[in-house]
Amino acid sequence: MTHVASDPIVSFAGVSLGYGEFTVLEDVNIDVHPGQVVAMMGGSGSGKTTLLRATTGQLPARAGAVRVFGQDIAGLDEKGLRAARQRMGVLFQQGALFTDLSVFENVAFPLREHTCISEHQILERVLETLDRVGLRHAAHLGISEISGGMARRVALARAVVLEPELILYDEPFAGLDPISLGIIAQLIRRMTDALGCASILITHDVPESFAIVDQVFLIGQGQLIAQGTPDQLSASTDAYVHQFLEGEPDGPIAFHYPDTPAFEQWLAGKTRS
Ligand SMILES: Nc1ncnc2c1ncn2[C@@H]1O[C@H](COP(=O)(O)OP(=O)(O)OP(=O)(O)O)[C@@H](O)[C@H]1O
Ligand SMILES: [Mg+2]
Repeated sequence: MTHVASDPIVSFAGVSLGYGEFTVLEDVNIDVHPGQVVAMMGGSGSGKTTLLRATTGQLPARAGAVRVFGQDIAGLDEKGLRAARQRMGVLFQQGALFTDLSVFENVAFPLREHTCISEHQILERVLETLDRVGLRHAAHLGISEISGGMARRVALARAVVLEPELILYDEPFAGLDPISLGIIAQLIRRMTDALGCASILITHDVPESFAIVDQVFLIGQGQLIAQGTPDQLSASTDAYVHQFLEGEPDGPIAFHYPDTPAFEQWLAGKTRS
């Protein structure tokens, strides 16, 4: 389901990102529209989580503009940023649940933090959201009593309980068995369609994500290398795209972290002492 006629929910225009002297990505142009599920793909260290941090306003762009909900994120004050973040649900890469809280209380947490709704409404909303991920009847369990795949579904429920307009998933499939992986992928698609929101999915998993996404953005070598529908990317003859999709060890994707002045300086210090 792709609605390209609408204004984008997220828009990167000529964006450069980095940390200190280290530039991760340059001149990135990406638009994500309501109703779309998009995949951000690329090798380890290519900058996928960095893109997510720029979207939430945690990392300022060095050049260009990141617009979220039509607003330049760099122009928002603390209050504006908080308001924008309330409209986003984030499933972090190391998305830990509160282990001392039950499944129910984990999902209730954002409602208690950000809304003034009654206990009765919280009960209804949380059970309804747990139902979406198939875990209504696990509400009473402790986090230590559920499996890894179930925990991922609880985290997913927690990320969507405020019915966000934008959901960011950082590697939601990592460490899941093929069945749980398929379930989570279908859930992401279904939840996006049900809420009419946009979803950005950071993943390495080609077949599962290609089955559910509208658009794929492939990053590497410090830039956006390719974008298109799963079919367009599958048909690409670009060497990088081909290597990534086929998971081939040889090709333009570097295995080694690049040499930097900071490393040489560190090594010089080591060899001097
Ligand atoms: N806080 C930070 N300070 C300095 N450098 C960082 C920081 N976070 C990430 N980096 C560097 O930025 C680059 C991109 O990192 P990022 O976490 O965005 O990669 P990624 O594509 O998400 O990788 P992975 O698939 O392994 O999660 C890496 O080279 C990393 O070393
Ligand atoms: Mg990452």
